[in-house]
Amino acid sequence: MPSPIHILGFAGSLRKNSYNRAALKIAQELVPEGAELEIVTLDELPLFNQDYENDEPSAVRSFKEKIHQADSLLIVTPEYNYSTSGVLKNAIDWASRPTGKSVLEGKPAALMGVGGRFGTVRAQQHLRQTFLYLNMPVLLKPEVHVMAAWEKFDNNGNLTDDKTREQIQALVEALVQWTKRFAK
Ligand SMILES: Cc1cc2nc3c(=O)[nH]c(=O)nc-3n(C[C@H](O)[C@H](O)[C@H](O)COP(=O)(O)O)c2cc1C
Repeated sequence: MPSPIHILGFAGSLRKNSYNRAALKIAQELVPEGAELEIVTLDELPLFNQDYENDEPSAVRSFKEKIHQADSLLIVTPEYNYSTSGVLKNAIDWASRPTGKSVLEGKPAALMGVGGRFGTVRAQQHLRQTFLYLNMPVLLKPEVHVMAAWEKFDNNGNLTDDKTREQIQALVEALVQWTKRFAK
């Protein structure tokens, strides 16, 4: 039996009751047969310091190794001040270094986000610009912009909105197909 497509997922919020972390867990439940989604948290990553990009702290090394081993990424972003969170950008900056050794180079990915009135549209646009520079093939459609998060999740982080569930499912299914296109 072929080994499953291995997707690595991470969310750009450290908040315990983060909607974005909750959405990532839902995505994990909805991954189709023949694929698996491993979730990694960004809690342990220190702030990027270029002095250490060739001799990274162990948490960074382990994060980069997981990316390296993954067939593709599912990146979940909150929107902070019309952009992504510093937490997520910090993680991407570590993974992109040093020059010529980026573990993100050519890595297929998909993006989603949970937020307020605009559902992280602006954060996702900013991230797409970053991924362009990093030479990452990022799935274009479907887009998942979950608006008014507080109406879609209950207080325990359970997703109560069927339409959002369908959107997340469609995204992970499309990501699996997308990943196959780039399989080596
Ligand atoms: C520093 C900060 C900036 C924010 N800026 C925006 C913003 O520009 N647009 C928006 O829709 N929501 C903004 N929000 C609200 C967050 O999107 C919202 O708190 C969201 O639930 C955070 O994601 P999480 O639940 O995964 O932690 C901001 C929140 C914080 C803490």
